[in-house]
Amino acid sequence: MANPSLLILPGDGIGPEVMAQVKRIIDWFGEKRDLAFDVSEDLVGGAAYDKHGVPLSDETMAKAQEVDAVLLGAVGGPAYDNLDFSVKPERGLLRLRKEMDLYANLRPAQCFDALADFSSLKKDIVSGLDIMIVRELTSGVYFGEPRGIHTEDNMRVGVNTQRYTEAEIERGARSAFELAMKRNKKLCSMEKANVMESGILWRDVVTEVSADYPEVELSHMYADNGAMQLVRAPKQFDVIYTDNLFGDILSDCAAMLTGSLGMLPSASLGQPMANGRPKAMYEPVHGSAPDITGQGKANPIACILSFAMALRYSFDEGAEADRLEAAIEKVLADGARTGDLMGPEGGTPLSTVEMGDVILAALDDSL
Ligand code: IPM
Ligand code: MG
Repeated sequence: MANPSLLILPGDGIGPEVMAQVKRIIDWFGEKRDLAFDVSEDLVGGAAYDKHGVPLSDETMAKAQEVDAVLLGAVGGPAYDNLDFSVKPERGLLRLRKEMDLYANLRPAQCFDALADFSSLKKDIVSGLDIMIVRELTSGVYFGEPRGIHTEDNMRVGVNTQRYTEAEIERGARSAFELAMKRNKKLCSMEKANVMESGILWRDVVTEVSADYPEVELSHMYADNGAMQLVRAPKQFDVIYTDNLFGDILSDCAAMLTGSLGMLPSASLGQPMANGRPKAMYEPVHGSAPDITGQGKANPIACILSFAMALRYSFDEGAEADRLEAAIEKVLADGARTGDLMGPEGGTPLSTVEMGDVILAALDDSL
């Protein structure tokens, strides 16, 4: 059988730096675990704009549709801030999500023991934290029509539309319930049913779907209260299911709880392809970090953990994903730190490449 295929889109800023470490990890699995991938690489975001004048070319889009999984680094940067909205780097990312129909965005927020002190919250509130946010990724206000800026009575008006069909709410809900079944069987759905009709529909549909998952304890929460509860007592949650915009905000909030945005991966999953694997893209939750770009000090762990999610969700290699995650936990427990993880006690931070080195060494030790 042919090797599974990966399309790597390093993107902008620190994207290429952290992705370089992921490529070493991919090679390691090929050499040491007989798990070889056919890897190709292409441009997205500002990097694609510089070459093609668009943040994602049609050729790259077509490739993304064909591979077994896409790994993305990060997009955006100050050089592109003033571009027309239609060609901004973020549009490349949104096009991938929309055209691949990646409706279920899995954003785990996990607090690594070794890093509990880095959270802005008290240690006992976050230590052991392990929650999963499932964000609907292909609809809602990000894509709803009508949208735009027009003029009415000499006054500019900005319009975006929050729109959800029941089918869109339902398929994401099923992904969230399935995940809850594999975890602690608790699902909290978040919307604003107190002010939005789309929220009322959301609550109804999630409740209907819950009939198929009687073992899962379902609760509903207004998203603003959800934000508050996330910082008050995050360990009350297991899986959270929410819409595209609330999910964007709540997942940043959850990410910060864990102490470092540089640590968090994500998976964006769609319908199964002919080979049974879901359409999939994996990316770190962090951005392109222009402030530290090119300095070799970015933390590659979120991007590496995104590859671990690919092993788990695209390639059914849960044991190998565990191996990679355990290697990362081990190096952190041993004190390996990139600059973003330096505490007040100081010390010499590892470079991006050095962090890759120690993770590869820990993988070797795992054999
Ligand atoms: C994210 C990001 C994106 C989003 C941006 C870069 C378009 O914030 O993945 O959370 O808003 O979805
Ligand atoms: Mg975001």
